[in-house]
Amino acid sequence: MHESDSLRALGARFPLQFAWGVASSAFQIEGAASADGKGPSIWDEFCRRRGVIADGTDGTIACDHYHRLESDLDLIAALGVRAYRFSIAWPRIQPTGSTAINAAGLDFYNRLVDGLLQRNIEPYLTLYHWDLPAALQHNHNGWADRHTAFRFAQFAALIAERLGDRVRSFTTHNEPWVTATLGHELGIFAPGLKDRRIATQASHHCLLSHGLAAQAIRSARSNADVGIVLNLSPVYAASDSPEDHVQARRDDGFLVRWYMDALLEGTYPADIIEFLGADAPVMEPEDARLIAQPLDFLGINYYYPITAVAGVPFNPTRRGVPVTDMGWEVAPGRLTDLLLRLDRDYDLPPLMITENGAAFRDAVVDGGVEDEDRRAYIESHVRAIATAIEEGVDVRGYFVWSLLDNFEWASGYSKRFGIYYVDYATQGRILKRSGEWYRKFLVANDSHYR
Ligand code: FCB
Repeated sequence: MHESDSLRALGARFPLQFAWGVASSAFQIEGAASADGKGPSIWDEFCRRRGVIADGTDGTIACDHYHRLESDLDLIAALGVRAYRFSIAWPRIQPTGSTAINAAGLDFYNRLVDGLLQRNIEPYLTLYHWDLPAALQHNHNGWADRHTAFRFAQFAALIAERLGDRVRSFTTHNEPWVTATLGHELGIFAPGLKDRRIATQASHHCLLSHGLAAQAIRSARSNADVGIVLNLSPVYAASDSPEDHVQARRDDGFLVRWYMDALLEGTYPADIIEFLGADAPVMEPEDARLIAQPLDFLGINYYYPITAVAGVPFNPTRRGVPVTDMGWEVAPGRLTDLLLRLDRDYDLPPLMITENGAAFRDAVVDGGVEDEDRRAYIESHVRAIATAIEEGVDVRGYFVWSLLDNFEWASGYSKRFGIYYVDYATQGRILKRSGEWYRKFLVANDSHYR
């Protein structure tokens, strides 16, 4: 079979309206940390702490996307994708988290959205990808305080009013588990707190803010599609030992059921509430109902399965398996399992795979990057999704993480996830082999989709 025939055969396993896309987030690519009136975010401040970012870097310049918007939009268009997932830097719009609007910040996203539409690419907007205005952390305790949920809903309403004439898809939060657990319990992400009690409260306030924002977006734009993005990993016990099984049940409870049960069933899992004891969040009686707003879609970010070992929460690896440069197990079949399990256990809205991709060490040789490992990762996961669709799961989109190599949070610039390589010294971009494969896949299937 010719390559284009096999690419067409793969594409034919997906529905006609499937949203093929690529994803990024504001803090990881924009740079321009204090340009045009932008306020500091908790990530700007977190990066200044000694020792928290592996390579000692920060997001001040990143991929300089803020100043390279037009040419980066051309790079997105050159892939042939129909969809682009990006996030709004809240402190660009509301520099101190107060209601005052920074017009220049809004203008950037107006140009981004218009530039996508001109290129026939649908914008998928995320409101919160972790860069909280620092002032909300200092003056109001950030997500630990209920107040922040209401501030977020106001911000969501503002964005829906200003961009909702051109943007249909609104994601409230990206991976609230990361905000809560990595940011407030393990302290490895901003704001860098280490307190389980605060973390569960922050998680509850993120979920509450999702519900409030969903209502606010819909009252501003009745035709908006509103969803949330969760990082979901299927969890397997490492052995038959009862201890590993207990760990597996708990990991699944914190990572999957905590969020899925709250959003889709309006309740937190009883076993986790019991395990938390006095660390369980304080709630108002109406919160559960507010959190469980109807979802137009659920976004799932999938990177790896968890192998539960007693005493090692959220373990992403095991011996003798292929891993990425993050040390995460490569297991496409587990994505199929995850989707089937969610479909079995919940009354799901349409699903979107809002992130999937891999970090590997890249080398530029003769001006090109031969990242066969990343290409194979993406292809195998696309196949895994096709299998789930054939088994009856309603998946409507797939977004490669990521458009560009970028600031990978606590790993700094040391991990590369892009399908475009970024030379940080020159800000040059090179389409990697993986990106070329994705482009060919989309071109081969273009007629199928039109
Ligand atoms: C996800 C994040 C994204 C990126 C990938 C590798 O958890 O949403 O920003 O860092 O991991």
